Amino acid sequence: MFERQIYINRREELKKKFKSGLLLFLGNDEAPINYAGNTYNFRQDSSFLYYFGLPIPNLAGIIDIDENKEYLFGYEFTLEDIVWMGPQPKLAELAERVGVANSESINNLKKFLKGKISKGVKVHFLPLYRAEHNLKLASLLDDDPFKINKKASKKLIEAVVEQRSVKSSEEIAEIEYALEIAYQMHTTAMRMAKPGITENDIYAALNGIAFSLGNGVSFHPIISVNGQTLHNHFHGNQLKEGQLLVCDAGAESLEFYASDITRTIPVGGKFSQRQKDIYEIVLTAQKNAINMIKPGVKHVDVHLTAAKIIAAGLIQLGIMKGNPGEAVKAGAHALFFPHGLGHMMGLDVHDMEGLGEQYVGYDDKTKRSDQFGLAYLRLAKELKPGFVFTCEPGIYFIPELIDQWKAKKKLKNFINYDKVEEYRNFGGIRIEDNILVTENGYKVLGRLIPKEVADVEAAVNSQG
Ligand code: GLY
Ligand code: MN
Ligand code: MN
Repeated sequence: MFERQIYINRREELKKKFKSGLLLFLGNDEAPINYAGNTYNFRQDSSFLYYFGLPIPNLAGIIDIDENKEYLFGYEFTLEDIVWMGPQPKLAELAERVGVANSESINNLKKFLKGKISKGVKVHFLPLYRAEHNLKLASLLDDDPFKINKKASKKLIEAVVEQRSVKSSEEIAEIEYALEIAYQMHTTAMRMAKPGITENDIYAALNGIAFSLGNGVSFHPIISVNGQTLHNHFHGNQLKEGQLLVCDAGAESLEFYASDITRTIPVGGKFSQRQKDIYEIVLTAQKNAINMIKPGVKHVDVHLTAAKIIAAGLIQLGIMKGNPGEAVKAGAHALFFPHGLGHMMGLDVHDMEGLGEQYVGYDDKTKRSDQFGLAYLRLAKELKPGFVFTCEPGIYFIPELIDQWKAKKKLKNFINYDKVEEYRNFGGIRIEDNILVTENGYKVLGRLIPKEVADVEAAVNSQG
């Protein structure tokens, strides 16, 4: 955990945005895998972590604006718990660690909330993403578990998003550490990417590194020779010489901050000319996109710049045709680059996605497009100093999508479908880094993980 004052300051900052009401933060509970006692690795809710720090199940944090009081509700550990889990702190001690003055049994939470509501106090809570929390909160507030989520507080969401979007120096240090773990993961993947190894061998090694150095992976790693499937979670293939391996993996720091890096690796250590041609387009798109990053720039414009570079590169190879700007305006590039350029990153790998992308990535000045591809952009709004997000362009040849577009002759003025057929089994390439917006520009966070063609090849060929 960070030192107590950090949590106190964060709550003080949040309080300034409210004149009245009660802010309720439900911590997560253990989540069973196949029976109650066999649970997934516990992960605390990220907003709870941000304001109340404690990575412990069954807690609720409350900020009472009217009374200017803070509470931690939870269970006291019993002797039986201690027999199974070892010595445990008292609830009051946990509250103390994060500068909260009052602690109470969670059994009293319903009565506490009822008392407040009966006095006309508004209870603000964030959107729920675990079904159990819908039941719990509906029970606490005497409401309908199927409707309760619609009552999440827009005011609280906006306040939390505004605060969590701007990363402080200690948060950036955590992300940098998560990136150091990612460096170890990706350079290991590169060294391992030899014919005969399986995707699972690499998947297992990367999970091991993430648990050895941090709090495990920040999402299930995507380790696939079928990189044309954007989030491919099958890892059963054996690698063959000359294949492209997409490796999209990151870790959580010990304070639960994420990294999220993608590299595309030539199995055996040598890109073919065809692979190099496509790789260089993606890399150029990424570098130019990163170069644009500074406060005041809209991220949707960074995305569109990357898209234009991808279109221009594909036009040069004869895969697309026409004018890159017009092609992107029409959405033709999305046959090959069907996802957004990036997303916020922090305590969640897709930071605050549970609070609603419309709040995190969009605002009154920036509305979401409904065009295929651009519609998936998670971060579109104007950039501010302190934002951390990913830059992850890619080019993919997705046979099913190609077939659908080709059958409809979709955007045929911009796509040379005969040439596309030559790349049908190419796979996919994505390159992803994590960027901080500074006062005047940007900083690519973390140690440079090989990404130039020669450097990636050298890393595959190195003995470590
Ligand atoms: N790691 C999934 C993504 O890049 O968004
Ligand atoms: Mn990723
Ligand atoms: Mn990402």
